[in-house]
Amino acid sequence: MSEPVLEIPFADAFQFDPSPTFAELRENRPVARVRTLAGAEVWLVTRYDDVRMVLADPRFSRAAVVKQGAPRVALAKPMPNSLTTTDPPEHTRLRKLVSSTFAHRRIERTRPWVAELSAKLADDVAAAGDGADLRELVALPLPIQVICQLLGVPYADRAQFREWTELGYSMRMAEKDLVEQAMADLTAYIEELVERKLANSDQPAEDLLDELVRAREEGDRLSQEELISFGVNLLVAGHETSANQISSVVATLLRWPENWARLVADHSLVDSAIEELLRFNRFSEVGQLRVALEDVELHGVQIKAGEGVMAALNSANRDPRQYDDPDELRLDRKDNKHLSFGFGPHFCLGAQLARIELQESLLALLRRFPNLTLTKPAESLPWRQVLVSGLAELPVNLGLPA
Ligand code: HEM
Repeated sequence: MSEPVLEIPFADAFQFDPSPTFAELRENRPVARVRTLAGAEVWLVTRYDDVRMVLADPRFSRAAVVKQGAPRVALAKPMPNSLTTTDPPEHTRLRKLVSSTFAHRRIERTRPWVAELSAKLADDVAAAGDGADLRELVALPLPIQVICQLLGVPYADRAQFREWTELGYSMRMAEKDLVEQAMADLTAYIEELVERKLANSDQPAEDLLDELVRAREEGDRLSQEELISFGVNLLVAGHETSANQISSVVATLLRWPENWARLVADHSLVDSAIEELLRFNRFSEVGQLRVALEDVELHGVQIKAGEGVMAALNSANRDPRQYDDPDELRLDRKDNKHLSFGFGPHFCLGAQLARIELQESLLALLRRFPNLTLTKPAESLPWRQVLVSGLAELPVNLGLPA
């Protein structure tokens, strides 16, 4: 008898606790057939080693996800000619153009500024008082300001591109037409920004889009389409995931308040705590999509050339084959090779920037609000039902002396 095809996201999606469905698949059906929201049937791999293999093995392609008739996970069409829709060597060429900006040492120079910004946002929280929404006051504005500054996108336009980003990640079939319009508007917005930068290329600014515009003028192989894809890609990828993670980090720590108290008492644990929370928190209810370029057999399942394969990062992060007590939150976990930033050639370009944002925002909150608490049980906080999942709000009581 053929195995049933499961609808993904699963019924146990969008909550703090790990998914029992992922756990069951990991044990009994490590290569499972699932149907995506966009109506495509693809394979889902859930074990740590298989997820890493799919992400790093050249038999599984990202470029093929934009081919005619390719399976789709999301409602939004992936943009061609971007980092996320090319394979080496095209991908290597594109990635080289931006890798120095995101290199560890260079990006570390933003840390003092991110720390200062985090402290200012903590002031805004204090001014808002008990019941303040940390998502609205810290988790969103911090990464948005950082990526705007880095990329050269006006912060004043945030309401507009937030709306387009929200729709771009939508998982509601009813919003299909709106999603396409939002992606077209976002692309047109970046196109106009690039045009403005081209027109003012005699007055260079210190930002990444400007750098790319100049690289193109100076003869680097970079088409106008690729330049615009970079802008869209970096603006969206550069704030949405970080914003969700900042909220999830704080919420998970406050869910078991002894964790918050432990970090208040010992800031040296912040770095390992952030890695553990990245492993522990759910941030995507689907997986990273690849398309098989040739037939591949995995655990007795024949994956055919042209079929989609999703690598479930959140499930891999909870695989007991890789971690002792994976469902236990250990703030000082050692040798934590989580897959939350992916693996292989498409490993997250902004990983170090995200780490700086997560570490500095947490430190600012620990310093300012040692007695922070949730206003309601974590389990009752609402989740946003979108592709990169996270909390819709994070109301807190500040615990400041009256
Ligand atoms: C906690 C926050 C973040 C998480 C969990 C995260 C996660 C990821 C993951 C899992 C991938 C790999 C996707 C795949 O293999 O299909 C990725 C790629 C990427 N991320 Fe992040 N990311 C975060 C923050 C950022 C930030 C702040 C930036 C800012 C620039 C960024 C930019 C990118 C880009 C451009 C790619 C595509 C890289 C490529 O295809 O070569 N991300 N991210």
